[in-house]
Amino acid sequence: MKRYYLILLIPIIILFALQVYAQQVPPVELLEVRDYRFEEFGIYKYPPAWFSHELHVEEYQVACSSCHHIYKDSKNIWTPENDIQKCSDCHGKSKQELTIAYHMKCWGCHKRAKEIHPIADVPTMECNRCHIDKANLAKEEKSIQQKLRHKERKVEEVIKNLKVKGFYK
Ligand code: HEC
Ligand code: HEC
Ligand code: HEC
Ligand code: HEC
Repeated sequence: MKRYYLILLIPIIILFALQVYAQQVPPVELLEVRDYRFEEFGIYKYPPAWFSHELHVEEYQVACSSCHHIYKDSKNIWTPENDIQKCSDCHGKSKQELTIAYHMKCWGCHKRAKEIHPIADVPTMECNRCHIDKANLAKEEKSIQQKLRHKERKVEEVIKNLKVKGFYK
């Protein structure tokens, strides 16, 4: 009878251990880049893009002002106190202009990072790694969570020293 209880206990111990492991990194929240202007221009051709502020800002120390900007006398004077404006407030004259602004910003850094460090996992031509189907979101969150456990020092170094026109003040 005693052994029977012991066998029952094993899965409980395993479940408990798994839970402790999972708790080391809290769940990540992906941010949907949803710019209302795209809806005004017509339907989205691709699923909206999703990305993780945590992966970019905390893990790889990408400065807020690398993505957010307000230029004054060709200086980026954006601070977190500024209300976050939509990119389309300034780059929204046409769907093409707006798409290029987003792609230049996101893709631009990824492309440069890959040129310097080819094994950096920065999507460029794999459209569906940014334009993520709803059905694949949970998988993407898990994958980011894994990444937050193992920072690639070399990638961090590359990003720190990256100079792309317009990215930094
Ligand atoms: C890799 C690019 C990138 C970096 C770095 C970045 N952001 Fe963002 N952030 C975005 C994008 C894109 C959006 C979504 C904009 C939209 O949908 O119009 C956004 C949205 C936001 C929002 C509003 C929406 C929300 O739900 O959170 C805030 C607030 C914000 N960012 C603050 C910050 C701060 C503070 C930092 C630095 C600690 C930062 N961001 C770094 C790209 C970035
Ligand atoms: C200044 C550089 C920089 C900018 C700007 C930038 N990224 Fe990234 N991105 C990175 C780095 C670094 C990684 C992680 C690389 C790695 O894990 O090897 C990354 C990874 C990603 C990934 C892969 C996540 C995964 O592991 O599945 C996605 C998706 C992504 N970025 C989307 C975006 C989007 C969308 C934008 C624009 C709003 C953006 N990025 C802007 C540097 C940047
Ligand atoms: C690094 C991330 C990233 C990659 C890789 C990427 N995009 Fe995008 N794309 C964006 C973001 C961000 C937007 C603007 C906001 C949104 O659609 O959610 C956008 C917008 C678009 C739009 C306009 C909106 C729509 O759906 O009609 C098109 C078209 C588009 N991308 C096509 C592509 C194609 C084709 C590829 C692959 C060759 C690609 N993108 C790869 C981030 C990316
Ligand atoms: C308050 C207005 C404003 C907002 C909001 C804004 N931008 Fe810009 N952006 C500008 C101005 C002004 C420039 C500089 C144009 C120049 O001097 O060539 C610029 C430049 C750029 C460039 C080109 C960089 C270069 O030097 O060639 C990209 C890419 C870009 N913005 C993307 C974005 C994205 C993505 C967002 C949203 C996360 C955004 N912008 C939000 C005003 C804005």
